[in-house]
Parts: sequence; structure tokens; C-alpha cells
Amino acid sequence: MAGLLAWTAADGPALTGVMHTAGVVDDGVLAGMTPERLATVLAPKAGGAAHLDELTAGLDLSAFVLFSSATAVFGGGGQGNYAAANAYLDALAEQRRARGLAATSVEWGVWAGGGMAEADGEVRRRVGRGPLRAMDPRPR
Ligand SMILES: NC(=O)c1ccc[n+]([C@@H]2O[C@H](COP(=O)([O-])OP(=O)(O)OC[C@H]3O[C@@H](n4cnc5c(N)ncnc54)[C@H](OP(=O)(O)O)[C@@H]3O)[C@@H](O)[C@H]2O)c1
Repeated sequence: MAGLLAWTAADGPALTGVMHTAGVVDDGVLAGMTPERLATVLAPKAGGAAHLDELTAGLDLSAFVLFSSATAVFGGGGQGNYAAANAYLDALAEQRRARGLAATSVEWGVWAGGGMAEADGEVRRRVGRGPLRAMDPRPR
């Protein structure tokens, strides 16, 4: 990422915004949660976003958008690690704004039509049992 930013600064198009969408799930009940499973989920979310924040701190970005989740506020069955990773994104957005930098953290609910909530059968079944319906991505 540092190399890519160095290239845009030298020869590439000017970077005006960042969209951070990386994420993985590794769901499990608390008793089965391990430091490794926490790290697996924190790395692309909290780690990736922190890295982007650090590397772009000197740029005049008009947008720095983080794909967080409603689990950051409501929690989610078996998603202690995922909830923590998303809460980090929300806090990072607050902290960036306090520094006068652009930041938006979008706490998405579940969406339909593909993505991590549909890719995994277990996650799909658990979400299906919950109160939130998956959002239809097709325009109405
Ligand atoms: N789907 C939903 O209902 C939902 C709801 C709320 C929030 N979100 C959030 O929205 C974002 C996108 O979700 P999605 O459903 O589109 O998931 P997705 O289809 O599984 O896409 C996640 C992306 O993250 C990338 N990624 C994973 N680990 C990475 C790493 N260490 N470094 C760089 N990239 C990495 C994956 O790349 P590879 O394909 O190369 O592995 C993949 O392209 C995620 O942050 C997710 O938490 C999704």
C-alpha cells in the first residue's frame, strides 16, 4: 500500500478518496474464541484501516469511507471478534474527524445478492433466524 501511494504521489492520478472494504468473518461462541481468531478478523479491518489512516494522514482526502457493520452497536451471535473489529472502525472515524480529517463509517446491515453474509452457509442461516432482513441491492 505504501508503494501504491508513493506511485500515485509521483506519477499516478491524485488520490482524493479512500474506500476501505476489506473484511473476513470467523464466527464462534466466546468459549471457542482464541487470540488467533480475534487477530484473523481484526487484521483486515482494524489493521488495514489503521494502516490506510497512517499512510494517508498527510493527504487532503475528501472521503475516507469505512465499511462497518451494525454488529458494532447491536452485537451479533458468535461475532464477538467481528463486532470488535467494526467498533474499531467507528472509533477510527470519530478520531479522524477530531483530527480534522475526512471520515465516514457506514454501519451496514446485512445485504443480499452476494457478499460475506451469503457466502458462508452457517452465517446465512444465523442471519436468517435474526430480526434483520437482508437488504435487496437492486434499485427500486
Ligand atoms: N455483506 C454484508 O452483508 C455486510 C454487512 C455489513 C458490513 N459488511 C462489510 O462490508 C465489507 C465488504 O463485505 P462483502 O460482503 O462485500 O465481503 P466479501 O465479498 O467477502 O469481500 C471482502 C473483501 O475483503 C478482502 N480482504 C479480506 N482480507 C483482506 C486483507 N487482509 N487485505 C486486503 N483485502 C482483504 C477480500 O479479498 P479477497 O477476495 O482477495 O480475499 C474481499 O475482496 C466488509 O468489510 C464487511 O465487513 C458487509
